[in-house]
Amino acid sequence: MQSNQLSVRNIHLPILGIGTWAWGDNLFWGYGSNYGEKEVQEAFNAAVEAGATFFDTAEVYGLGESEKLIGKFLKQTSQPIQIATKYFPLPWRFNQDAVGEALTASLDRLDLEQVALYQVHMPFDFFMGQETLMKALATEVKKGRILTVGVSNYSAKQMQQAYDYLANYNVPLAVNQVRYSLLTRSIERNGILDKARELGVTILAYSPLDQGLLTGKYTPEKREVTGARKIDPKFSAAGLKKIEPIINQLKKLGEKYDKTPAQVALNWLIAQGDVIPIPGAKNARQAQENAGGMGWQLSSEDVKQLSLLSNK
Ligand SMILES: NC(=O)c1ccc[n+]([C@@H]2O[C@H](COP(=O)([O-])OP(=O)(O)OC[C@H]3O[C@@H](n4cnc5c(N)ncnc54)[C@H](OP(=O)(O)O)[C@@H]3O)[C@@H](O)[C@H]2O)c1
Repeated sequence: MQSNQLSVRNIHLPILGIGTWAWGDNLFWGYGSNYGEKEVQEAFNAAVEAGATFFDTAEVYGLGESEKLIGKFLKQTSQPIQIATKYFPLPWRFNQDAVGEALTASLDRLDLEQVALYQVHMPFDFFMGQETLMKALATEVKKGRILTVGVSNYSAKQMQQAYDYLANYNVPLAVNQVRYSLLTRSIERNGILDKARELGVTILAYSPLDQGLLTGKYTPEKREVTGARKIDPKFSAAGLKKIEPIINQLKKLGEKYDKTPAQVALNWLIAQGDVIPIPGAKNARQAQENAGGMGWQLSSEDVKQLSLLSNK
Protein backbone atom coordinates (compact mmCIF):
# COMPACT_ATOMS: atom_id res chain seq x y z
CA MET A 1 0.00 0.00 0.00
CA GLN A 2 1.26 3.48 -0.91
CA SER A 3 2.02 5.81 1.96
CA ASN A 4 -0.11 8.94 2.06
CA GLN A 5 2.96 10.98 2.95
CA LEU A 6 6.08 11.81 0.99
CA SER A 7 9.39 13.13 2.32
CA VAL A 8 10.28 16.26 0.42
CA ARG A 9 13.74 17.26 1.64
CA ASN A 10 13.28 18.29 5.29
CA ILE A 11 9.47 18.13 5.36
CA HIS A 12 6.72 15.57 4.86
CA LEU A 13 3.82 16.36 2.56
CA PRO A 14 0.62 14.48 1.77
CA ILE A 15 1.10 12.53 -1.50
CA LEU A 16 -1.72 14.62 -2.98
CA GLY A 17 -2.40 18.33 -2.49
CA ILE A 18 -5.19 20.67 -3.58
CA GLY A 19 -4.61 23.44 -6.12
CA THR A 20 -6.32 26.75 -5.44
CA TRP A 21 -5.86 28.78 -8.64
CA ALA A 22 -9.65 28.81 -9.07
CA TRP A 23 -10.20 30.31 -5.58
CA GLY A 24 -10.81 33.97 -6.25
CA ASP A 25 -9.92 33.85 -9.94
CA ASN A 26 -12.72 34.99 -12.21
CA LEU A 27 -10.65 35.61 -15.34
CA PHE A 28 -9.91 31.98 -16.18
CA TRP A 29 -12.16 29.98 -13.87
CA GLY A 30 -15.21 32.24 -13.40
CA TYR A 31 -15.05 32.62 -9.59
CA GLY A 32 -18.13 34.55 -8.46
CA SER A 33 -20.40 33.19 -11.19
CA ASN A 34 -21.37 29.56 -10.56
CA TYR A 35 -19.24 29.15 -7.42
CA GLY A 36 -17.85 31.51 -4.78
CA GLU A 37 -16.43 31.77 -1.26
CA LYS A 38 -18.94 29.40 0.30
CA GLU A 39 -18.15 26.63 -2.19
CA VAL A 40 -14.37 26.99 -1.93
CA GLN A 41 -14.54 27.08 1.87
CA GLU A 42 -16.48 23.81 1.70
CA ALA A 43 -13.83 22.47 -0.69
CA PHE A 44 -11.12 23.40 1.83
CA ASN A 45 -12.98 21.67 4.67
CA ALA A 46 -13.71 18.54 2.63
CA ALA A 47 -10.07 18.27 1.54
CA VAL A 48 -8.81 18.60 5.11
CA GLU A 49 -11.33 16.05 6.31
CA ALA A 50 -10.11 13.62 3.64
CA GLY A 51 -6.44 14.10 4.60
CA ALA A 52 -5.45 16.39 1.72
CA THR A 53 -3.96 18.94 4.09
CA PHE A 54 -1.56 20.51 1.60
CA PHE A 55 -2.69 23.49 -0.50
CA ASP A 56 -0.93 25.12 -3.43
CA THR A 57 -1.53 28.81 -4.07
CA ALA A 58 0.32 31.81 -5.56
CA GLU A 59 0.47 35.54 -5.03
CA VAL A 60 -1.03 36.02 -8.52
CA TYR A 61 -4.06 33.71 -8.08
CA GLY A 62 -7.07 36.02 -8.04
CA LEU A 63 -4.51 38.82 -7.49
CA GLY A 64 -3.97 37.70 -3.91
CA GLU A 65 -7.54 36.57 -3.27
CA SER A 66 -6.62 32.85 -3.18
CA GLU A 67 -4.05 33.47 -0.42
CA LYS A 68 -6.54 35.68 1.48
CA LEU A 69 -9.25 33.02 1.35
CA ILE A 70 -6.84 30.35 2.57
CA GLY A 71 -5.75 32.66 5.40
CA LYS A 72 -9.39 32.98 6.43
CA PHE A 73 -10.09 29.23 6.23
CA LEU A 74 -6.95 28.35 8.19
CA LYS A 75 -8.31 30.26 11.18
CA GLN A 76 -11.30 27.95 11.28
CA THR A 77 -9.46 24.66 11.57
CA SER A 78 -7.23 23.18 14.23
CA GLN A 79 -5.70 20.63 11.82
CA PRO A 80 -2.04 21.09 10.84
CA ILE A 81 -2.06 22.38 7.25
CA GLN A 82 0.86 22.92 4.90
CA ILE A 83 0.87 25.74 2.40
CA ALA A 84 2.88 26.22 -0.77
CA THR A 85 2.81 29.61 -2.43
CA LYS A 86 4.69 31.26 -5.27
CA TYR A 87 6.75 34.33 -6.09
CA PHE A 88 6.15 35.82 -9.54
CA PRO A 89 9.29 37.29 -11.16
CA LEU A 90 7.91 40.55 -12.52
CA PRO A 91 10.23 42.76 -14.62
CA TRP A 92 10.33 45.56 -12.04
CA ARG A 93 11.39 43.22 -9.26
CA PHE A 94 15.08 43.60 -9.91
CA ASN A 95 16.81 43.37 -6.55
CA GLN A 96 16.98 40.85 -3.75
CA ASP A 97 14.71 42.88 -1.45
CA ALA A 98 11.80 42.35 -3.86
CA VAL A 99 11.71 38.66 -2.91
CA GLY A 100 11.48 39.40 0.81
CA GLU A 101 8.80 42.04 0.19
CA ALA A 102 6.70 39.68 -1.95
CA LEU A 103 7.01 36.96 0.68
CA THR A 104 5.99 39.39 3.43
CA ALA A 105 2.87 40.31 1.44
CA SER A 106 2.00 36.63 0.84
CA LEU A 107 2.49 35.78 4.53
CA ASP A 108 0.30 38.76 5.47
CA ARG A 109 -2.51 37.58 3.20
CA LEU A 110 -2.18 34.02 4.51
CA ASP A 111 -1.80 35.35 8.05
CA LEU A 112 1.11 32.98 8.63
CA GLU A 113 4.68 33.40 9.79
CA GLN A 114 6.04 30.63 7.61
CA VAL A 115 5.12 28.51 4.60
CA ALA A 116 6.15 24.90 3.92
CA LEU A 117 7.19 25.66 0.35
CA TYR A 118 7.95 28.85 -1.60
CA GLN A 119 8.24 28.46 -5.37
CA VAL A 120 9.38 30.68 -8.21
CA HIS A 121 6.34 30.67 -10.50
CA MET A 122 8.15 31.06 -13.85
CA PRO A 123 11.78 30.89 -14.96
CA PHE A 124 11.87 34.56 -16.05
CA ASP A 125 15.11 36.41 -15.55
CA PHE A 126 14.48 40.02 -16.55
CA PHE A 127 16.88 42.13 -14.48
CA MET A 128 17.27 39.84 -11.47
CA GLY A 129 19.35 36.84 -12.48
CA GLN A 130 18.74 33.38 -11.06
CA GLU A 131 21.83 33.65 -8.86
CA THR A 132 20.43 36.65 -6.96
CA LEU A 133 16.97 35.11 -6.85
CA MET A 134 18.23 31.85 -5.34
CA LYS A 135 20.38 33.76 -2.85
CA ALA A 136 17.29 35.70 -1.74
CA LEU A 137 15.31 32.47 -1.32
CA ALA A 138 18.13 30.82 0.63
CA THR A 139 18.18 33.89 2.91
CA GLU A 140 14.48 33.37 3.64
CA VAL A 141 15.12 29.72 4.51
CA LYS A 142 17.76 30.85 7.02
CA LYS A 143 15.30 33.37 8.45
CA GLY A 144 12.78 30.54 8.87
CA ARG A 145 10.02 32.14 6.82
CA ILE A 146 10.10 29.27 4.29
CA LEU A 147 10.87 25.63 4.99
CA THR A 148 11.71 24.52 1.44
CA VAL A 149 12.40 26.17 -1.90
CA GLY A 150 10.82 25.16 -5.20
CA VAL A 151 10.68 26.30 -8.80
CA SER A 152 7.91 26.00 -11.35
CA ASN A 153 7.92 25.62 -15.12
CA TYR A 154 11.73 25.26 -15.10
CA SER A 155 13.39 23.18 -17.83
CA ALA A 156 15.92 20.46 -16.92
CA LYS A 157 18.77 22.91 -17.49
CA GLN A 158 17.15 25.70 -15.47
CA MET A 159 16.43 23.24 -12.65
CA GLN A 160 20.08 22.20 -12.53
CA GLN A 161 21.14 25.87 -12.42
CA ALA A 162 18.74 26.69 -9.58
CA TYR A 163 19.89 23.56 -7.73
CA ASP A 164 23.56 24.60 -8.07
CA TYR A 165 22.98 28.19 -6.92
CA LEU A 166 20.99 27.02 -3.89
CA ALA A 167 23.65 24.42 -3.06
CA ASN A 168 26.09 27.31 -2.47
CA TYR A 169 23.97 28.10 0.60
CA ASN A 170 23.38 24.45 1.57
CA VAL A 171 19.72 24.74 0.61
CA PRO A 172 18.45 21.82 -1.50
CA LEU A 173 15.99 22.48 -4.32
CA ALA A 174 12.83 20.68 -3.17
CA VAL A 175 10.37 20.71 -6.09
CA ASN A 176 9.73 21.65 -9.68
CA GLN A 177 6.02 22.31 -10.25
CA VAL A 178 5.17 21.46 -13.85
CA ARG A 179 2.20 20.40 -15.95
CA TYR A 180 1.87 16.62 -15.84
CA SER A 181 -1.05 14.30 -16.44
CA LEU A 182 -2.04 11.26 -18.49
CA LEU A 183 -2.74 13.67 -21.34
CA THR A 184 0.33 15.89 -20.91
CA ARG A 185 3.41 13.77 -20.58
CA SER A 186 6.07 16.01 -22.13
CA ILE A 187 8.19 16.04 -18.94
CA GLU A 188 8.90 12.34 -19.57
CA ARG A 189 10.48 13.26 -22.91
CA ASN A 190 12.11 16.66 -22.44
CA GLY A 191 14.49 15.68 -19.65
CA ILE A 192 12.63 17.32 -16.74
CA LEU A 193 11.55 14.06 -15.09
CA ASP A 194 14.99 12.45 -15.49
CA LYS A 195 16.74 15.53 -14.11
CA ALA A 196 14.33 15.70 -11.16
CA ARG A 197 15.07 12.05 -10.34
CA GLU A 198 18.82 12.66 -10.61
CA LEU A 199 18.68 15.67 -8.27
CA GLY A 200 16.12 14.22 -5.86
CA VAL A 201 13.65 16.98 -6.76
CA THR A 202 9.95 16.14 -6.26
CA ILE A 203 7.57 16.89 -9.13
CA LEU A 204 4.42 18.79 -8.19
CA ALA A 205 2.05 17.86 -11.02
CA TYR A 206 -0.19 20.78 -11.96
CA SER A 207 -3.34 20.48 -14.08
CA PRO A 208 -3.26 16.74 -13.21
CA LEU A 209 -6.82 16.33 -14.52
CA ASP A 210 -5.95 18.39 -17.61
CA GLN A 211 -8.28 21.11 -16.40
CA GLY A 212 -11.22 18.75 -15.93
CA LEU A 213 -10.81 16.58 -19.07
CA LEU A 214 -9.73 13.48 -17.16
CA THR A 215 -12.85 13.49 -15.00
CA GLY A 216 -14.71 12.24 -18.10
CA LYS A 217 -17.51 14.77 -17.54
CA TYR A 218 -16.81 16.60 -20.81
CA THR A 219 -17.74 14.66 -23.95
CA PRO A 220 -18.11 15.65 -27.64
CA GLU A 221 -21.86 15.87 -26.97
CA LYS A 222 -21.57 17.61 -23.58
CA ARG A 223 -19.13 20.49 -23.67
CA GLU A 224 -20.57 23.15 -21.34
CA VAL A 225 -17.13 24.24 -20.30
CA THR A 226 -16.60 27.63 -18.61
CA GLY A 227 -14.07 30.41 -19.11
CA ALA A 228 -10.95 30.30 -21.23
CA ARG A 229 -11.23 26.56 -21.81
CA LYS A 230 -13.94 27.38 -24.39
CA ILE A 231 -11.23 28.27 -26.88
CA ASP A 232 -8.87 25.42 -25.98
CA PRO A 233 -8.80 22.88 -28.87
CA LYS A 234 -8.58 20.08 -26.29
CA PHE A 235 -12.16 20.96 -25.27
CA SER A 236 -13.44 21.04 -28.89
CA ALA A 237 -15.64 18.18 -30.09
CA ALA A 238 -12.66 16.77 -32.04
CA GLY A 239 -10.34 17.14 -29.04
CA LEU A 240 -12.80 15.36 -26.77
CA LYS A 241 -13.35 12.60 -29.34
CA LYS A 242 -9.60 11.98 -29.45
CA ILE A 243 -9.32 11.28 -25.71
CA GLU A 244 -12.28 8.88 -25.58
CA PRO A 245 -10.11 5.71 -25.45
CA ILE A 246 -8.32 7.03 -22.35
CA ILE A 247 -11.53 8.11 -20.66
CA ASN A 248 -13.06 4.69 -21.40
CA GLN A 249 -10.04 2.96 -19.86
CA LEU A 250 -10.24 5.24 -16.78
CA LYS A 251 -13.91 4.30 -16.42
CA LYS A 252 -13.15 0.60 -16.80
CA LEU A 253 -10.42 0.74 -14.16
CA GLY A 254 -12.70 2.88 -12.01
CA GLU A 255 -15.24 0.05 -12.01
CA LYS A 256 -12.55 -2.49 -11.13
CA TYR A 257 -11.28 -0.49 -8.14
CA ASP A 258 -14.55 1.23 -7.23
CA LYS A 259 -13.05 4.64 -8.01
CA THR A 260 -13.93 7.48 -10.39
CA PRO A 261 -11.98 8.28 -13.59
CA ALA A 262 -10.45 11.34 -11.87
CA GLN A 263 -9.25 9.21 -8.96
CA VAL A 264 -7.68 6.68 -11.33
CA ALA A 265 -5.93 9.47 -13.28
CA LEU A 266 -4.53 10.96 -10.04
CA ASN A 267 -3.44 7.56 -8.74
CA TRP A 268 -1.55 6.94 -12.01
CA LEU A 269 0.46 10.12 -11.31
CA ILE A 270 1.23 9.05 -7.73
CA ALA A 271 2.36 5.67 -9.10
CA GLN A 272 5.13 7.42 -11.06
CA GLY A 273 6.94 7.94 -7.74
CA ASP A 274 8.08 11.21 -6.15
CA VAL A 275 5.18 12.99 -7.89
CA ILE A 276 2.55 14.95 -5.94
CA PRO A 277 -0.56 15.81 -7.97
CA ILE A 278 -2.28 19.05 -6.99
CA PRO A 279 -5.76 18.89 -8.56
CA GLY A 280 -7.92 21.99 -8.40
CA ALA A 281 -11.33 21.80 -6.71
CA LYS A 282 -14.15 24.34 -6.85
CA ASN A 283 -16.44 22.67 -4.32
CA ALA A 284 -16.62 20.01 -1.60
CA ARG A 285 -17.64 17.24 -3.96
CA GLN A 286 -14.66 17.79 -6.25
CA ALA A 287 -12.24 18.14 -3.30
CA GLN A 288 -13.49 14.97 -1.66
CA GLU A 289 -13.35 13.04 -4.92
CA ASN A 290 -9.86 14.28 -5.75
CA ALA A 291 -8.52 13.48 -2.27
CA GLY A 292 -9.71 9.93 -3.00
CA GLY A 293 -6.97 9.74 -5.63
CA MET A 294 -4.69 8.73 -2.75
CA GLY A 295 -4.96 5.94 -0.19
CA TRP A 296 -5.07 3.03 -2.65
CA GLN A 297 -2.96 1.70 -5.48
CA LEU A 298 -3.43 0.70 -9.11
CA SER A 299 -1.65 -2.57 -9.91
CA SER A 300 1.66 -2.15 -11.75
CA GLU A 301 0.08 -3.90 -14.77
CA ASP A 302 -2.79 -1.36 -14.84
CA VAL A 303 -0.34 1.55 -14.50
CA LYS A 304 1.62 0.14 -17.44
CA GLN A 305 -1.47 -0.32 -19.60
CA LEU A 306 -2.61 3.25 -18.93
CA SER A 307 0.86 4.57 -19.76
CA LEU A 308 0.91 2.69 -23.06
CA LEU A 309 -2.59 3.80 -24.02
CA SER A 310 -2.01 7.48 -23.25
CA ASN A 311 1.29 7.50 -25.13
CA LYS A 312 -0.36 6.58 -28.43
N1 LIG B 1 2.69 26.62 -11.63
C1 LIG B 1 1.87 26.89 -12.62
O1 LIG B 1 2.23 27.56 -13.60
C2 LIG B 1 0.46 26.35 -12.55
C3 LIG B 1 -0.36 26.38 -13.71
C4 LIG B 1 -1.63 25.83 -13.59
C5 LIG B 1 -2.07 25.28 -12.39
N2 LIG B 1 -1.25 25.29 -11.30
C6 LIG B 1 -1.68 24.70 -9.99
O2 LIG B 1 -2.24 23.41 -10.21
C7 LIG B 1 -3.57 23.38 -9.71
C8 LIG B 1 -4.43 22.44 -10.51
O3 LIG B 1 -4.39 22.73 -11.89
P1 LIG B 1 -5.65 23.23 -12.72
O4 LIG B 1 -6.64 23.88 -11.79
O5 LIG B 1 -5.12 24.00 -13.88
O6 LIG B 1 -6.27 21.91 -13.38
P2 LIG B 1 -6.89 20.52 -12.86
O7 LIG B 1 -6.58 20.29 -11.46
O8 LIG B 1 -6.45 19.52 -13.87
O9 LIG B 1 -8.44 20.79 -13.08
C9 LIG B 1 -9.18 21.57 -12.19
C10 LIG B 1 -10.59 21.80 -12.70
O10 LIG B 1 -11.20 20.58 -13.11
C11 LIG B 1 -12.55 20.49 -12.65
N3 LIG B 1 -12.55 19.43 -11.64
C12 LIG B 1 -11.60 19.18 -10.68
N4 LIG B 1 -11.90 18.10 -9.97
C13 LIG B 1 -13.06 17.63 -10.44
C14 LIG B 1 -13.87 16.53 -10.09
N5 LIG B 1 -13.52 15.70 -9.12
N6 LIG B 1 -15.03 16.33 -10.78
C15 LIG B 1 -15.38 17.16 -11.79
N7 LIG B 1 -14.64 18.24 -12.16
C16 LIG B 1 -13.49 18.48 -11.49
C17 LIG B 1 -12.87 21.86 -12.04
O11 LIG B 1 -13.31 22.76 -13.05
P3 LIG B 1 -14.80 22.68 -13.71
O12 LIG B 1 -15.73 22.17 -12.65
O13 LIG B 1 -15.07 24.06 -14.16
O14 LIG B 1 -14.65 21.73 -14.88
C18 LIG B 1 -11.50 22.32 -11.58
O15 LIG B 1 -11.38 23.70 -11.45
C19 LIG B 1 -4.01 24.85 -9.73
O16 LIG B 1 -5.11 25.09 -8.88
C20 LIG B 1 -2.73 25.53 -9.29
O17 LIG B 1 -2.59 25.42 -7.88
C21 LIG B 1 0.01 25.79 -11.38
